[in-house]
Amino acid sequence: MDEELVEYSPQELIAEVKVIISSGELNDERFKYIGDLLHKLASRSDLKSIGEHRGKGVNAVDSYVLYRDDEPDGPIIILAEFDKPTKIHNHGTWGVMCAYEGREKYKQWKRMDEGDELGKATLRLVTDIVLDVGDIVWWPDVPNDIHMQDPIDDSMWQLVLMGRNTLGADEEHYDPDLGLRWPADIPPHMRSSKTRG
Ligand SMILES: [Fe+2]
Repeated sequence: MDEELVEYSPQELIAEVKVIISSGELNDERFKYIGDLLHKLASRSDLKSIGEHRGKGVNAVDSYVLYRDDEPDGPIIILAEFDKPTKIHNHGTWGVMCAYEGREKYKQWKRMDEGDELGKATLRLVTDIVLDVGDIVWWPDVPNDIHMQDPIDDSMWQLVLMGRNTLGADEEHYDPDLGLRWPADIPPHMRSSKTRG
């Protein structure tokens, strides 16, 4: 087994990501590069044992934190398990993810309105794909960070890097058919935990 792959750590990944972030605006090419780094980290089979167990998140049924930045709004890496479709949600930040175990359907929307009408959102579906183990996908920064995950297998684990640890403060749920949005129902203990998923 390639020792370098086994030893690749969340800290090394973040160091590389910070270089990418500082080199200019995040475009598809840079998101793909970050996705390839996540894919490299996902080649480790021991991620659950090196992570800090967090348990249930807003959408996730179980999760581990693999990296939490010293800066409160710095990047965060979470390994999260899903056993049912998530609500259509945002995160208040860009993100990149890599399927770790199991498959899922992944959808992403683009925000078509200005976001200035309370409770309303006009969304256009722009991504509708199946992620197999090792596949990567990314969502851009606000306001186009709206997506949902729908496990195909009984459960699936995914490795998620979020650009900023946004504490759930701006998280919303959406109904594209009705053109509605509303604040996510995030329990207080999760808002203060600095980790979500
Ligand atoms: Fe998400």
